[in-house]
Amino acid sequence: MNYSAIVAIDRNGAIGKQGQLLCHLPADMKHFKETTMGHSIVMGRKTFESFPKGALPGRQNIVITRNRDYAAEGVTVVHSVDEALAAATMEGEVFIIGGEEIYRATFPLVNTIHLTVIDHKFKDADAHFPRIDMRSWKIISEESHPADDRNPYPYTFMTLHRKRANR
Ligand SMILES: NC(=O)c1ccc[n+]([C@@H]2O[C@H](COP(=O)([O-])OP(=O)(O)OC[C@H]3O[C@@H](n4cnc5c(N)ncnc54)[C@H](OP(=O)(O)O)[C@@H]3O)[C@@H](O)[C@H]2O)c1
Repeated sequence: MNYSAIVAIDRNGAIGKQGQLLCHLPADMKHFKETTMGHSIVMGRKTFESFPKGALPGRQNIVITRNRDYAAEGVTVVHSVDEALAAATMEGEVFIIGGEEIYRATFPLVNTIHLTVIDHKFKDADAHFPRIDMRSWKIISEESHPADDRNPYPYTFMTLHRKRANR
């Protein structure tokens, strides 16, 4: 199975602040939706609860919590990372969609990162992505966009593949 992380980071590797995203970037929302549609998505309970309308449509929403009584409409509830990966039933890539705790717990398993780099340094961020050591990753694609009327910061979509140990 190919496990992929999909994440938007700022110039400091930050991903969130007080339980929410760092900023509203509609182009990244669209990119996230297009990339993950039709796949299983794995997330921590806190990230799930940050969604304004609950489970994301068209995808298998797998939510990890230690709470054995947790239930929510439209989601597969699991209690460990292993259980989350085993529960994924949709075709192709399984996407790890955050937040910090879940990115850290799954990072060694991830072979692809769909990375959005927001060209800004946000103050008071309190959640971060694991450090990406570029000696271990190869850039497969890279596409930069300027800020515009709807997107307040410049941003770059990148796809990274983990380099094989024997290359
Ligand atoms: N920029 C991005 O692309 C992006 C993407 C996603 C999220 N975010 C941001 O990231 C922040 C949230 O990250 P976070 O680290 O605070 O929360 P999180 O990773 O979304 O969720 C943490 C929760 O997951 C459960 N959990 C974690 N590890 C577990 C394990 N090994 N076994 C069982 N359950 C486990 C626990 O739930 P219980 O407490 O219920 O037991 C824990 O409290 C928010 O600011 C969010 O907006 C950013």
